[in-house]
Amino acid sequence: MEIKRKSIMLPGPVDVPDDVLMSMSKPVINHRGEEFHQLMANIERISKQIFQTKYNVIVLSSSGTGGAESAVMNIIRPGDKAIVPVFGEFSGRLAQQIEAARGKVVRVNAPFGTAPSVEQIENAVSENKDAKGIFLVYNDTSPGTTYRYAKEIGDIAEKYGMFYVIDAISVFGGDILPMDEWHADVVIAGSQKCLFTPPGLALVGVSDDVVNYVRKDPPLTTYFNYASYVDFLAKFETPFTPALPIFYALETALQKISAQGLDKIIQKHKIGAEAYYKAFETMGLQPFVEERFRSNVVISIKYPQGVDDVKFRKYLENNYNIVITGGFGELKGKIFRIGNMGIIERSKILPTILAVGHSMIAQGINVNVEKAIEVAEEKLKGLDSV
Ligand SMILES: Cc1ncc(COP(=O)(O)O)c(C=O)c1O
Repeated sequence: MEIKRKSIMLPGPVDVPDDVLMSMSKPVINHRGEEFHQLMANIERISKQIFQTKYNVIVLSSSGTGGAESAVMNIIRPGDKAIVPVFGEFSGRLAQQIEAARGKVVRVNAPFGTAPSVEQIENAVSENKDAKGIFLVYNDTSPGTTYRYAKEIGDIAEKYGMFYVIDAISVFGGDILPMDEWHADVVIAGSQKCLFTPPGLALVGVSDDVVNYVRKDPPLTTYFNYASYVDFLAKFETPFTPALPIFYALETALQKISAQGLDKIIQKHKIGAEAYYKAFETMGLQPFVEERFRSNVVISIKYPQGVDDVKFRKYLENNYNIVITGGFGELKGKIFRIGNMGIIERSKILPTILAVGHSMIAQGINVNVEKAIEVAEEKLKGLDSV
């Protein structure tokens, strides 16, 4: 099947740089041999730097959902309680994963577009001191909401002696997350989002507390058992056959991140997000999420009355070769979402803004595209000094 290259501006997967992509064509090697040890050592060294952790970062050959499931299966035993702030489809899904593992979930709900307060979460924790952990989705990709008090929730977890799990699948590498400073026990990143690697790997930072717990009380999973991963990582291996081509790609992507510096990359995501929000505001389009929780990596915008989601995105893709997405679950048909993840460049952001503007006009919505591009250009000047 022939595949035409398009500009993939989704909230994951995202466009992968050619050198990252090409590194997947290296030969298959022995995953118990010296070459793999070298590869894994490189991945581990840079991963620890960007997770900002002294603990182990394991790499699972699974998509993000497998990473989230690994946290659930390693921490939750049947009958265990967990606190889950729910403010989007992915946090709802995390709660369901815990229930599927026969855990009991205390949900702290907030309407999509906002998020529960720190107080609400602390109340739930103090009323459920027997809970095993707090499971937070740092950036819920469905509404485009970043939980801006993730650090405070870490302090609460620390105070009450609970495990703290952060699903950072869609935001890791695009916004701040110092794992140890925030008292996180498990941090999950997805390869296909801000790490600009193809889909298929979950990177998971795991604290010694979790690993020691797992050794004492083995989980009901073989594939995701953290203790096995940590034991094999000591010799720079994985317990099971790794998805080698994606490991090669990940190594190249991490080397690029390390060369640029994580702080700079995070700053670029912030500038890119400001350009999008400002441009859409200039067009008279409304962001879906309350300002303080707005994501720097998922730009979610409400459709004006009368715009059909599928028709709009089809027009945009057919005429501009740019792929964005809509809402799902309760947000289906109500919002469109753009990924501002990975490689943040003018040459990706400006055409996307232009395409959205002209596609709106084609749907009968009068927007000032020229002015929107002008304000975005102004914001994007900030990229030059990063
Ligand atoms: C916050 C969050 N959690 C979990 C997932 C699931 O990841 P995957 O589709 O890689 O399994 C996603 C995917 O978009 C996500 O954004």
